[in-house]
Amino acid sequence: MSAVVQDRYAPAPEGLFQIAQIDRPTITADEVLVRVHAASVDRGTWHIMAGLPYPIRLAGFGLRRPKYANPGRNLAGTVEEVGGSATGFTPGDEVYGMATSTFAEYAAVRADKLAPKPTNLSFDEAAAVPVSGCTALQAVRTHGRVEAGEKVLILGASGGVGSFAVQIAKASGAEVTGVCSTSKVDLVGNLGADHVIDYTDEDFADRGPRFDVVIDTGGNARLSQLRRALTPRGRLVIVGGETDGRLLGGSDRGIRAKVLSLFVGQQMGTFVTSENAADLMTLRDLIEAGQLTPAVDRTYPLDEVAAAIRHMLEGKARGKLAVSVSPGRLQTPATGSTP
Ligand SMILES: NC(=O)c1ccc[n+]([C@@H]2O[C@H](COP(=O)([O-])OP(=O)(O)OC[C@H]3O[C@@H](n4cnc5c(N)ncnc54)[C@H](OP(=O)(O)O)[C@@H]3O)[C@@H](O)[C@H]2O)c1
Repeated sequence: MSAVVQDRYAPAPEGLFQIAQIDRPTITADEVLVRVHAASVDRGTWHIMAGLPYPIRLAGFGLRRPKYANPGRNLAGTVEEVGGSATGFTPGDEVYGMATSTFAEYAAVRADKLAPKPTNLSFDEAAAVPVSGCTALQAVRTHGRVEAGEKVLILGASGGVGSFAVQIAKASGAEVTGVCSTSKVDLVGNLGADHVIDYTDEDFADRGPRFDVVIDTGGNARLSQLRRALTPRGRLVIVGGETDGRLLGGSDRGIRAKVLSLFVGQQMGTFVTSENAADLMTLRDLIEAGQLTPAVDRTYPLDEVAAAIRHMLEGKARGKLAVSVSPGRLQTPATGSTP
Protein backbone atom coordinates (compact mmCIF):
# COMPACT_ATOMS: atom_id res chain seq x y z
CA MET A 1 0.00 0.00 0.00
CA SER A 2 1.01 3.66 -0.30
CA ALA A 3 1.79 5.38 2.98
CA VAL A 4 3.48 8.44 4.38
CA VAL A 5 6.73 7.40 6.07
CA GLN A 6 9.01 9.21 8.50
CA ASP A 7 12.28 7.62 9.69
CA ARG A 8 13.50 10.23 12.22
CA TYR A 9 12.11 12.74 14.70
CA ALA A 10 12.28 16.42 13.68
CA PRO A 11 10.44 19.58 14.79
CA ALA A 12 9.83 20.85 11.23
CA PRO A 13 7.76 18.82 8.75
CA GLU A 14 9.57 20.07 5.63
CA GLY A 15 11.54 17.25 3.95
CA LEU A 16 10.59 14.80 6.69
CA PHE A 17 7.89 12.74 4.97
CA GLN A 18 7.98 10.57 1.89
CA ILE A 19 5.33 8.50 0.17
CA ALA A 20 6.52 4.88 0.04
CA GLN A 21 5.15 1.43 -0.75
CA ILE A 22 4.97 -0.59 2.47
CA ASP A 23 3.17 -3.76 3.53
CA ARG A 24 -0.47 -3.50 4.53
CA PRO A 25 -0.82 -3.88 8.30
CA THR A 26 -1.89 -7.28 9.54
CA ILE A 27 -4.59 -7.35 12.21
CA THR A 28 -4.84 -9.14 15.54
CA ALA A 29 -8.05 -10.77 16.76
CA ASP A 30 -9.32 -7.58 18.43
CA GLU A 31 -8.53 -5.33 15.46
CA VAL A 32 -10.25 -4.23 12.26
CA LEU A 33 -8.45 -3.48 8.99
CA VAL A 34 -9.80 -0.19 7.64
CA ARG A 35 -9.38 1.11 4.11
CA VAL A 36 -8.59 4.76 4.98
CA HIS A 37 -10.44 7.43 3.00
CA ALA A 38 -9.37 10.37 5.15
CA ALA A 39 -7.22 11.27 8.14
CA SER A 40 -6.59 14.58 9.95
CA VAL A 41 -3.94 16.70 11.61
CA ASP A 42 -3.87 18.13 15.13
CA ARG A 43 -1.33 19.23 17.74
CA GLY A 44 -0.80 15.60 18.71
CA THR A 45 0.36 14.92 15.14
CA TRP A 46 3.17 17.40 15.65
CA HIS A 47 4.13 16.01 19.08
CA ILE A 48 4.42 12.47 17.67
CA MET A 49 6.26 13.74 14.57
CA ALA A 50 8.77 15.72 16.64
CA GLY A 51 9.05 13.27 19.55
CA LEU A 52 8.47 16.26 21.84
CA PRO A 53 8.07 16.78 24.71
CA TYR A 54 10.32 13.81 25.50
CA PRO A 55 7.79 11.88 27.66
CA ILE A 56 5.87 11.12 24.46
CA ARG A 57 8.77 8.86 23.43
CA LEU A 58 8.39 6.92 26.70
CA ALA A 59 4.66 6.63 26.02
CA GLY A 60 5.40 4.09 23.28
CA PHE A 61 6.13 6.17 20.20
CA GLY A 62 9.82 5.22 19.96
CA LEU A 63 12.79 6.33 22.08
CA ARG A 64 15.36 7.33 19.43
CA ARG A 65 13.31 7.16 16.25
CA PRO A 66 9.60 6.89 15.46
CA LYS A 67 8.17 3.44 16.12
CA TYR A 68 5.31 3.91 13.67
CA ALA A 69 5.48 4.67 9.93
CA ASN A 70 3.84 8.09 10.35
CA PRO A 71 2.20 10.30 13.03
CA GLY A 72 -1.42 10.07 11.78
CA ARG A 73 -3.89 9.17 14.58
CA ASN A 74 -7.37 9.83 13.17
CA LEU A 75 -9.19 8.09 10.35
CA ALA A 76 -12.47 7.58 8.52
CA GLY A 77 -12.90 4.81 6.00
CA THR A 78 -14.49 1.45 5.22
CA VAL A 79 -14.00 -1.88 6.95
CA GLU A 80 -11.90 -4.29 4.86
CA GLU A 81 -11.35 -7.19 7.28
CA VAL A 82 -12.50 -8.02 10.82
CA GLY A 83 -10.47 -9.84 13.50
CA GLY A 84 -11.91 -12.96 15.14
CA SER A 85 -12.96 -11.29 18.41
CA ALA A 86 -13.78 -7.82 17.00
CA THR A 87 -17.57 -7.88 17.13
CA GLY A 88 -19.96 -5.35 15.63
CA PHE A 89 -18.21 -4.69 12.31
CA THR A 90 -18.71 -6.11 8.82
CA PRO A 91 -16.63 -5.54 5.66
CA GLY A 92 -17.95 -2.48 3.83
CA ASP A 93 -19.12 -0.64 7.00
CA GLU A 94 -18.30 3.08 7.04
CA VAL A 95 -16.39 3.82 10.26
CA TYR A 96 -14.29 6.43 12.03
CA GLY A 97 -11.85 6.23 14.92
CA MET A 98 -8.33 6.38 16.32
CA ALA A 99 -5.29 4.31 15.39
CA THR A 100 -1.60 4.70 14.53
CA SER A 101 -0.05 5.43 11.11
CA THR A 102 -3.32 6.62 9.58
CA PHE A 103 -1.63 8.64 6.79
CA ALA A 104 -1.82 5.48 4.66
CA GLU A 105 -4.22 3.51 2.48
CA TYR A 106 -4.92 0.97 5.24
CA ALA A 107 -4.74 1.01 9.03
CA ALA A 108 -5.21 -1.62 11.74
CA VAL A 109 -7.65 -0.24 14.32
CA ARG A 110 -8.58 -1.67 17.72
CA ALA A 111 -12.30 -2.38 17.68
CA ASP A 112 -12.73 -0.47 20.95
CA LYS A 113 -11.44 2.71 19.24
CA LEU A 114 -13.76 2.47 16.23
CA ALA A 115 -17.42 3.37 15.67
CA PRO A 116 -19.88 3.79 12.80
CA LYS A 117 -19.21 7.02 10.88
CA PRO A 118 -21.85 9.74 11.31
CA THR A 119 -24.09 9.26 8.28
CA ASN A 120 -24.38 12.99 7.58
CA LEU A 121 -20.62 13.62 7.29
CA SER A 122 -18.20 13.10 4.42
CA PHE A 123 -15.12 10.97 5.14
CA ASP A 124 -12.97 14.14 5.33
CA GLU A 125 -15.30 15.69 7.91
CA ALA A 126 -15.58 12.46 9.94
CA ALA A 127 -11.78 12.05 10.07
CA ALA A 128 -11.53 15.49 11.70
CA VAL A 129 -13.55 14.34 14.71
CA PRO A 130 -11.99 11.47 16.74
CA VAL A 131 -9.14 12.79 18.94
CA SER A 132 -10.21 16.46 19.10
CA GLY A 133 -13.90 15.56 19.49
CA CYS A 134 -13.28 12.99 22.26
CA THR A 135 -10.99 15.47 24.04
CA ALA A 136 -13.62 18.22 23.87
CA LEU A 137 -16.41 15.87 25.01
CA GLN A 138 -14.39 14.72 28.01
CA ALA A 139 -13.31 18.29 28.87
CA VAL A 140 -16.89 19.60 28.81
CA ARG A 141 -18.85 16.65 30.19
CA THR A 142 -16.58 14.25 32.10
CA HIS A 143 -14.20 16.74 33.73
CA GLY A 144 -15.99 20.11 33.42
CA ARG A 145 -19.37 18.53 34.32
CA VAL A 146 -21.04 21.44 32.50
CA GLU A 147 -24.73 21.83 33.29
CA ALA A 148 -27.52 23.76 31.59
CA GLY A 149 -27.49 27.46 32.48
CA GLU A 150 -23.84 27.53 33.57
CA LYS A 151 -21.43 30.12 32.21
CA VAL A 152 -18.52 28.47 30.40
CA LEU A 153 -15.32 30.10 29.11
CA ILE A 154 -13.41 28.29 26.37
CA LEU A 155 -9.84 29.43 25.70
CA GLY A 156 -8.67 28.44 22.20
CA ALA A 157 -12.25 28.32 20.91
CA SER A 158 -11.06 28.55 17.28
CA GLY A 159 -8.79 25.48 17.54
CA GLY A 160 -9.24 21.78 16.96
CA VAL A 161 -10.43 20.92 20.47
CA GLY A 162 -11.99 24.32 21.18
CA SER A 163 -14.21 24.33 18.08
CA PHE A 164 -15.82 21.10 19.30
CA ALA A 165 -15.92 22.23 22.95
CA VAL A 166 -17.92 25.39 22.09
CA GLN A 167 -20.60 23.33 20.35
CA ILE A 168 -20.72 20.57 22.99
CA ALA A 169 -21.05 23.13 25.80
CA LYS A 170 -23.87 24.82 23.86
CA ALA A 171 -25.54 21.43 23.35
CA SER A 172 -25.36 20.98 27.16
CA GLY A 173 -27.35 24.21 27.57
CA ALA A 174 -24.47 26.43 28.79
CA GLU A 175 -23.90 30.11 28.07
CA VAL A 176 -20.60 29.99 26.19
CA THR A 177 -17.87 32.60 25.85
CA GLY A 178 -15.08 31.75 23.40
CA VAL A 179 -11.61 33.30 23.35
CA CYS A 180 -9.59 33.50 20.12
CA SER A 181 -7.57 35.86 17.90
CA THR A 182 -9.07 38.65 15.79
CA SER A 183 -9.28 36.84 12.46
CA LYS A 184 -11.22 33.94 13.98
CA VAL A 185 -13.88 35.88 15.93
CA ASP A 186 -16.38 35.22 13.12
CA LEU A 187 -15.67 31.48 13.19
CA VAL A 188 -16.26 31.20 16.95
CA GLY A 189 -19.50 33.18 16.65
CA ASN A 190 -20.64 30.87 13.85
CA LEU A 191 -19.88 27.83 16.03
CA GLY A 192 -22.59 29.12 18.37
CA ALA A 193 -20.67 30.96 21.12
CA ASP A 194 -22.88 33.51 22.86
CA HIS A 195 -19.96 35.88 23.40
CA VAL A 196 -16.51 36.06 21.79
CA ILE A 197 -13.43 37.68 23.35
CA ASP A 198 -10.54 38.66 21.06
CA TYR A 199 -7.47 38.00 23.23
CA THR A 200 -5.42 40.59 21.34
CA ASP A 201 -7.90 43.19 22.53
CA GLU A 202 -9.07 42.10 25.98
CA ASP A 203 -7.88 40.03 28.96
CA PHE A 204 -10.64 37.47 29.63
CA ALA A 205 -9.94 37.73 33.38
CA ASP A 206 -10.90 41.43 33.37
CA ARG A 207 -14.57 40.39 33.21
CA GLY A 208 -14.22 39.20 36.82
CA PRO A 209 -15.11 35.92 38.56
CA ARG A 210 -18.11 35.07 36.45
CA PHE A 211 -17.45 31.66 34.88
CA ASP A 212 -18.62 28.38 36.43
CA VAL A 213 -16.31 26.41 34.17
CA VAL A 214 -13.14 27.41 32.30
CA ILE A 215 -11.81 25.05 29.62
CA ASP A 216 -8.27 25.94 28.62
CA THR A 217 -7.01 24.66 25.26
CA GLY A 218 -4.64 27.47 24.27
CA GLY A 219 -2.63 30.48 25.35
CA ASN A 220 -0.97 29.11 28.52
CA ALA A 221 -2.60 31.66 30.82
CA ARG A 222 -1.18 31.77 34.35
CA LEU A 223 -3.17 29.91 37.00
CA SER A 224 -3.75 33.18 38.87
CA GLN A 225 -5.31 34.68 35.75
CA LEU A 226 -7.51 31.63 35.16
CA ARG A 227 -8.65 31.66 38.79
CA ARG A 228 -9.64 35.33 38.53
CA ALA A 229 -12.15 34.35 35.81
CA LEU A 230 -13.66 31.49 37.87
CA THR A 231 -16.43 31.76 40.44
CA PRO A 232 -15.27 30.83 43.99
CA ARG A 233 -16.41 27.22 43.49
CA GLY A 234 -15.81 27.09 39.74
CA ARG A 235 -14.10 24.28 37.78
CA LEU A 236 -10.97 24.68 35.66
CA VAL A 237 -10.13 22.01 33.06
CA ILE A 238 -6.67 22.37 31.54
CA VAL A 239 -6.61 20.52 28.23
CA GLY A 240 -3.24 21.81 27.05
CA GLY A 241 -1.26 24.64 25.55
CA GLU A 242 1.86 24.73 23.43
CA THR A 243 5.20 25.68 25.00
CA ASP A 244 8.85 25.24 24.00
CA GLY A 245 9.41 22.97 27.02
CA ARG A 246 11.07 19.77 25.80
CA LEU A 247 10.85 18.04 29.16
CA LEU A 248 7.36 18.81 30.43
CA GLY A 249 5.74 20.59 27.46
CA GLY A 250 3.72 22.81 29.80
CA SER A 251 2.21 19.89 31.73
CA ASP A 252 3.57 21.37 34.99
CA ARG A 253 0.71 23.91 34.87
CA GLY A 254 -1.85 21.10 35.12
CA ILE A 255 0.05 19.45 37.96
CA ARG A 256 0.26 22.75 39.88
CA ALA A 257 -3.48 23.27 39.32
CA LYS A 258 -4.27 19.83 40.78
CA VAL A 259 -2.15 20.48 43.86
CA LEU A 260 -3.58 23.96 44.41
CA SER A 261 -7.07 22.53 44.07
CA LEU A 262 -6.55 20.71 47.38
CA PHE A 263 -6.35 24.04 49.23
CA VAL A 264 -8.94 26.29 47.55
CA GLY A 265 -12.66 26.19 46.77
CA GLN A 266 -12.12 26.06 43.03
CA GLN A 267 -11.65 22.61 41.45
CA MET A 268 -8.78 22.56 39.00
CA GLY A 269 -7.08 19.83 37.04
CA THR A 270 -6.04 18.30 33.79
CA PHE A 271 -6.49 14.96 32.02
CA VAL A 272 -5.22 12.74 29.22
CA THR A 273 -7.80 11.94 26.57
CA SER A 274 -9.33 8.50 26.75
CA GLU A 275 -9.66 7.12 23.21
CA ASN A 276 -12.81 5.01 23.27
CA ALA A 277 -15.69 3.89 21.08
CA ALA A 278 -18.39 4.95 23.57
CA ASP A 279 -17.39 8.60 23.19
CA LEU A 280 -17.22 8.21 19.40
CA MET A 281 -20.83 6.97 19.56
CA THR A 282 -21.87 9.96 21.70
CA LEU A 283 -20.18 12.31 19.22
CA ARG A 284 -21.91 10.54 16.33
CA ASP A 285 -25.30 11.04 18.05
CA LEU A 286 -24.60 14.77 18.57
CA ILE A 287 -23.48 15.12 14.93
CA GLU A 288 -26.47 13.26 13.51
CA ALA A 289 -28.80 15.35 15.73
CA GLY A 290 -27.35 18.51 14.14
CA GLN A 291 -25.83 19.72 17.42
CA LEU A 292 -22.21 19.26 16.39
CA THR A 293 -20.46 19.90 13.06
CA PRO A 294 -16.70 19.63 12.59
CA ALA A 295 -15.25 22.95 11.47
CA VAL A 296 -12.99 21.72 8.66
CA ASP A 297 -10.84 24.57 7.40
CA ARG A 298 -9.06 22.73 4.57
CA THR A 299 -8.47 19.26 3.19
CA TYR A 300 -4.97 18.34 1.98
CA PRO A 301 -3.99 15.38 -0.23
CA LEU A 302 -1.89 12.65 1.41
CA ASP A 303 1.33 13.85 -0.23
CA GLU A 304 0.86 17.29 1.36
CA VAL A 305 0.71 16.27 5.03
CA ALA A 306 3.75 18.48 5.69
CA ALA A 307 1.89 21.53 4.34
CA ALA A 308 -1.08 20.74 6.59
CA ILE A 309 1.16 20.53 9.66
CA ARG A 310 2.91 23.79 8.70
CA HIS A 311 -0.50 25.53 8.32
CA MET A 312 -1.39 24.43 11.86
CA LEU A 313 2.00 25.37 13.34
CA GLU A 314 1.67 28.89 11.91
CA GLY A 315 -1.63 29.28 13.77
CA LYS A 316 -3.56 29.68 10.51
CA ALA A 317 -5.95 26.76 10.89
CA ARG A 318 -9.56 27.69 11.55
CA GLY A 319 -10.79 24.60 13.40
CA LYS A 320 -9.60 21.34 11.86
CA LEU A 321 -7.42 20.21 8.94
CA ALA A 322 -8.30 17.00 7.07
CA VAL A 323 -6.10 14.80 4.88
CA SER A 324 -7.74 12.99 1.98
CA VAL A 325 -6.27 9.58 1.18
CA SER A 326 -6.89 9.31 -2.54
CA PRO A 327 -4.92 6.46 -4.18
CA GLY A 328 -5.29 8.12 -7.59
CA ARG A 329 -2.73 10.75 -6.60
CA LEU A 330 -0.23 8.18 -5.40
CA GLN A 331 0.37 5.91 -8.37
CA THR A 332 4.03 6.96 -8.76
CA PRO A 333 5.33 7.16 -5.21
CA ALA A 334 8.55 8.99 -4.62
CA THR A 335 11.44 6.70 -3.80
CA GLY A 336 11.69 6.63 -0.04
CA SER A 337 12.75 4.53 2.89
CA THR A 338 10.47 1.67 3.79
CA PRO A 339 10.27 1.05 7.54
N1 LIG B 1 -4.98 16.54 27.44
C1 LIG B 1 -4.96 15.83 26.33
O1 LIG B 1 -4.99 14.59 26.34
C2 LIG B 1 -4.95 16.58 25.03
C3 LIG B 1 -5.62 16.07 23.92
C4 LIG B 1 -5.63 16.82 22.74
C5 LIG B 1 -4.95 18.04 22.69
N2 LIG B 1 -4.27 18.47 23.79
C6 LIG B 1 -3.56 19.75 23.77
O2 LIG B 1 -4.54 20.78 23.74
C7 LIG B 1 -4.04 21.91 23.07
C8 LIG B 1 -5.03 22.32 21.98
O3 LIG B 1 -5.02 21.36 20.94
P1 LIG B 1 -5.67 21.71 19.54
O4 LIG B 1 -5.46 20.52 18.66
O5 LIG B 1 -7.03 22.23 19.74
O6 LIG B 1 -4.70 22.90 19.05
P2 LIG B 1 -5.01 24.05 18.02
O7 LIG B 1 -5.95 23.55 16.97
O8 LIG B 1 -3.71 24.59 17.57
O9 LIG B 1 -5.79 25.15 18.87
C9 LIG B 1 -5.17 25.94 19.83
C10 LIG B 1 -5.88 27.24 19.89
O10 LIG B 1 -5.27 28.03 20.93
C11 LIG B 1 -5.56 29.35 20.60
N3 LIG B 1 -4.71 30.33 21.29
C12 LIG B 1 -3.41 30.66 21.05
N4 LIG B 1 -3.04 31.65 21.89
C13 LIG B 1 -4.11 31.94 22.67
C14 LIG B 1 -4.35 32.86 23.71
N5 LIG B 1 -3.41 33.69 24.14
N6 LIG B 1 -5.57 32.88 24.27
C15 LIG B 1 -6.53 32.03 23.87
N7 LIG B 1 -6.37 31.14 22.87
C16 LIG B 1 -5.17 31.09 22.28
C17 LIG B 1 -5.41 29.45 19.11
O11 LIG B 1 -6.33 30.43 18.71
P3 LIG B 1 -5.99 31.52 17.56
O12 LIG B 1 -5.56 30.69 16.38
O13 LIG B 1 -7.27 32.23 17.36
O14 LIG B 1 -4.84 32.33 18.09
C18 LIG B 1 -5.79 28.04 18.61
O15 LIG B 1 -7.02 28.04 17.93
C19 LIG B 1 -2.67 21.50 22.53
O16 LIG B 1 -1.67 21.98 23.39
C20 LIG B 1 -2.71 20.00 22.53
O17 LIG B 1 -1.43 19.42 22.64
C21 LIG B 1 -4.26 17.77 24.96
